[in-house]
Amino acid sequence: MSDADFLPYCRPQILKQDIDAVVRVLESRWITTGAVCAELEAKIRDVTGARFAVAVSSGTAALHLALHALGIGPGDEVITPSMTWVSTANSIKLLGATPVFVDVDRHHLMTDAELIERAVTARTRAVIPVHFAGAPLHMDAIRRLCRSRGIAVIEDAAHVLGATQSGTPVGSVGNAFFSFQATKNVTGAEGGVFVTDDERLATRIRSLRFHGLGADAFDRDQLGRKPQVEVLEPGFKFNLPDLCAALALSQLGRLDAIIDSRTALAARYDEAFANDPHILPLSRPDLAHRHAWHLYVVRLADTVAMSRDAFVDQLRVRGIGAGIHFKAVHTHRYYRELPEGRVKLDNTLWNSERVLSLPLFPEMTADDVARVCDAVKGIAAG
Ligand SMILES: Cc1ncc(COP(=O)(O)O)c(C=O)c1O
Repeated sequence: MSDADFLPYCRPQILKQDIDAVVRVLESRWITTGAVCAELEAKIRDVTGARFAVAVSSGTAALHLALHALGIGPGDEVITPSMTWVSTANSIKLLGATPVFVDVDRHHLMTDAELIERAVTARTRAVIPVHFAGAPLHMDAIRRLCRSRGIAVIEDAAHVLGATQSGTPVGSVGNAFFSFQATKNVTGAEGGVFVTDDERLATRIRSLRFHGLGADAFDRDQLGRKPQVEVLEPGFKFNLPDLCAALALSQLGRLDAIIDSRTALAARYDEAFANDPHILPLSRPDLAHRHAWHLYVVRLADTVAMSRDAFVDQLRVRGIGAGIHFKAVHTHRYYRELPEGRVKLDNTLWNSERVLSLPLFPEMTADDVARVCDAVKGIAAG
């Protein structure tokens, strides 16, 4: 089989208009954070209904800045599921705080207010619920719980740009962040954005993303603002270059079309696996929602004798890539050896050993889906 026949689990859709948008930035000679980044922030506010948006170099950077700005540090506990990307927990550790891992629903892989409430202690300062694979998680009860206990909430919305819950876009209320990393529905190669309805938090994060200065290079050089280059507090170098912002902005303009094509492919997978006893797609959350279909995740049923890792190898032999979202964070070596890694999370662990993400990207064809389904069913049936 030639490399050209290999079907990866993800391939960013790069249209001529995306390339033109990036070239325009190159030709302008202003390639770092500037007007295009500001335009991306405005468009994100538009799409999500958020009052404020601050674009940064990654979703991880957005979360790190948010936790830092909220004053999370040593002695504090932050509750988050272990079924997430490692950066969610790493950001907590890097600030000297303790991640408290909670379990998730066995079939949609998201946590809930009840599980979170059981993990709350006098030291809990924040909760990071994680929307999963494009599906939004039920936020109302979590927000009520956290508001009543004075606990901050930062939604990890890396997977759900464009998703809605009960008609409301994810990111329109409270604090959340999205990712523009290369596999995401909308990508800037890398990048992320923090959204909030808290003006003070947004202003602080805007300053913290660029050294904690009162103004960035664009403010000074292009907008003619006073070179107020004073450090207000020590900050980071987490700004998003216009080069990346241009790609993300161009893609964001067709977000609905991107989600629609992913939805159509996911429906084909759903149909193919509906009566397959060996392959268990994720269930949908029990709320009116629009799914962003970032990933098509399935689990190998207990009837499948082969390990998930061997299964992924078998798919690769057939020219098909698969992702793993996720190996539970508390099972990674660093966390395993910490007290906070010694937790009993039955649903998380069961899924951690069985999940795999099948190819899903806008340029896939119906034949590609059929090829994946044939291979998956064939391997599962032994
Ligand atoms: C659930 C989740 N949270 C956070 C992130 C971090 O986003 P980024 O890669 O942009 O730092 C990712 C990303 O890949 C993710 O899948």
